[in-house]
Amino acid sequence: MNMANPDTTSPETSLDTRFALARALAQEAGAMALDYFNRRDTLVIETKRDMQDVVSIADRNVEKMIRERVAAMLPEDGFLGEEFGHTEGASGYTWVVDPIDGTAPFVNGMPTWCVSIAVVHGGEPVIGVIGAPCQNELYAAALGRGAKLNGRVLTLDPTRTMQNALTGIGANSHVTPEVVSDIVNRLLQAGGNFIRNGSGALMLAYVAAGRLVGYYEPYMHAWDCLAGYCLVKEAGGWYHPFPVEGEGLTKGAPVVAAGPGARADIGKLAGVC
Ligand code: IPD
Ligand code: CA
Ligand code: CA
Repeated sequence: MNMANPDTTSPETSLDTRFALARALAQEAGAMALDYFNRRDTLVIETKRDMQDVVSIADRNVEKMIRERVAAMLPEDGFLGEEFGHTEGASGYTWVVDPIDGTAPFVNGMPTWCVSIAVVHGGEPVIGVIGAPCQNELYAAALGRGAKLNGRVLTLDPTRTMQNALTGIGANSHVTPEVVSDIVNRLLQAGGNFIRNGSGALMLAYVAAGRLVGYYEPYMHAWDCLAGYCLVKEAGGWYHPFPVEGEGLTKGAPVVAAGPGARADIGKLAGVC
């Protein structure tokens, strides 16, 4: 494919063009973010909603690069990024990007952060690419094309359950400590156990890879979850739909995903089924 002059005439070509671009951008963005990570002592760390909600020039410049590349190649596409917000498009495709998910681990020198790139079309995420440069891992999925980790097909094992595997959870200051402790309490009471690595997007990729059996966070944004959702679905798992139409795209909502053996238990934990 000619990346400088994409042919987007048929729906299939449109998806494949964007999937190739998303994979290339996740790798380029990952390398850029990794360079910042390796010299993080020089970054000025700012706070947003609260002292735990951090950001630096790394987040902004990585998003800028991805935005500029998409606008140059596909100027009709919409774009939503965590740092610079929403630009409406006219093609029916919207890119939803978290330039660095796991900024807290990133600025504190831990490797569990990633670049998360989704493309939404027809009310659902049709592309999900997550790059985790510290592990040299690229997770990539597109609707009907399966999910892969570094080129290896991901297929979820139905024998893994909430009881015999680990469940990822996450929380931020949008929810009260009581809500979070209740989730932990009910997960443990149900015979499960929790893990949190500071990146919801990466933990969703871990669900797709079968490393975690599910993920639940009561309030997250589209840029945190849509790429992971596409990966989980294409690996044979389930997710609770995120409201991507209209204003829903920029607002927060519960994020819930699971492998086939834990769907009922994780859905019950999250109160969504
Ligand atoms: C955060 C991470 C974290 C989750 C938060 C998110 P950020 O994103 O995904 O794991 O618990 O809700 O906001 O700030 O690192 O991009
Ligand atoms: Ca995020
Ligand atoms: Ca982020």
